[in-house]
Amino acid sequence: MTLIVALLVLAAAGGLHPPGAIDAAATTGLSEGDTACDLRVPDSCTLRDLASRLGRRVGATAEPSQVLPGPFADTLAREFSSLTPENALKWYTVQPNRGGWNFGPADAVVDFAVAHGMEVRGHTLVWTQDTFTPGWVKAISDPAELRTVLAEHINTVVGRYGDRVHRWDVVNEPLESIGTNPSDNVFGRVLGAGYLAEIFALAHAADPSAELWLNEFGTDWVPGKHEALVELVRQLVTDGVPIHGVGIQMHRFTTEGPDLDAFRRQLEDFAALGVKVAITELDVATVPGDPDAFSKQAGTYERVVTACLLVAACAEITTWGVTDAATWLDHLGTLPTPTRPLLFDDQYAPKPAYLAFRGALLAALAGAQWPTQPSPPPMTALPVAAAPAFTG
Ligand code: G3I
Repeated sequence: MTLIVALLVLAAAGGLHPPGAIDAAATTGLSEGDTACDLRVPDSCTLRDLASRLGRRVGATAEPSQVLPGPFADTLAREFSSLTPENALKWYTVQPNRGGWNFGPADAVVDFAVAHGMEVRGHTLVWTQDTFTPGWVKAISDPAELRTVLAEHINTVVGRYGDRVHRWDVVNEPLESIGTNPSDNVFGRVLGAGYLAEIFALAHAADPSAELWLNEFGTDWVPGKHEALVELVRQLVTDGVPIHGVGIQMHRFTTEGPDLDAFRRQLEDFAALGVKVAITELDVATVPGDPDAFSKQAGTYERVVTACLLVAACAEITTWGVTDAATWLDHLGTLPTPTRPLLFDDQYAPKPAYLAFRGALLAALAGAQWPTQPSPPPMTALPVAAAPAFTG
């Protein structure tokens, strides 16, 4: 089946909008008549295979229990070229008390990734939200001691995984979850306004070859938060801080938006600063009982993936999970459940969102013309029930 025919098949399956403009040949060398994949061949046309032809990574997350032999691990290895430990590399997991190192969970996830040729996103060296910082760290008020503790943590973690983890979320969520100001966290309180630069400098010293990323929530929909993050990153770049990428989480709490062109411009705002950009935590919550839920969801995934593929600096798209059977959104406590936010259903069968994701990759490979029709209105606020309890 030629690629164009594959696109027509996918279009008929509702996996594609009318095409838009992208210079695929410049990144793939594929021309019309090439067969990027044959949809009739089982396990061909995987997301990781198609994305790699576009010089991009497609990722997902895993917990240690999920990389044990079974359908989760099988789907992970088949479809994804990047892996983010969902919780195993967080400070509260790795060093819950000073010197009490707990590397077992992260070892399991990182070893799985390496065994299956997957890149690892080291999430995250420092989560600058006090809620997720161990109490013993939050209790430090002396700047010198906090600097010592930061150096110990970063040097130990990066030192252990540096040969296998090539990009780190050095800092996660330096801004307020639902706001535009710097978050109130122990590192800012004790070390002052330059704390981000200090943390990035420690990470760079620990592994000068590593890509160092800043990761943020909600910039796609919290009013003003995108602009606040752009200014923050602009200042870091101006100050010579070794920052190489910006992660845009893209937790979508409804199937509304984002507007494709508006989101593409947001990604380009970071590219214009000379850093890479990535979608790092994509999931799209649906409303139980909505008969159109999965087609709406597919549209959201297609717009997000297409926006990334239109921006050369957009290196990766990671979904925050694999299967609807295991999503943090069902435990948020403020969304109607099941939220069913991911590409695969409870039985690991691909959903329309998966076809839309793959369709966007196939369209890019075919040098398709991208949709220009207006998108649904953007999501500007959490569903009312979700707003008060969300903690980032
Ligand atoms: O493993 C323990 C279990 O032993 C215990 O019985 C249970 C009782 O509370 O807790 C379990 O740990 C939970 C852990 O997820 C693993 O399931 C923690 O309580 C819970 O707080 C933790 O939530 C994670 C959350 O970050 C906080 O770390 C979510 O799984 C994870 O999806 C979420 O991911 C974050 C990103 O790191 C940053 N961006 C936002 C995103 C969503 O909040």
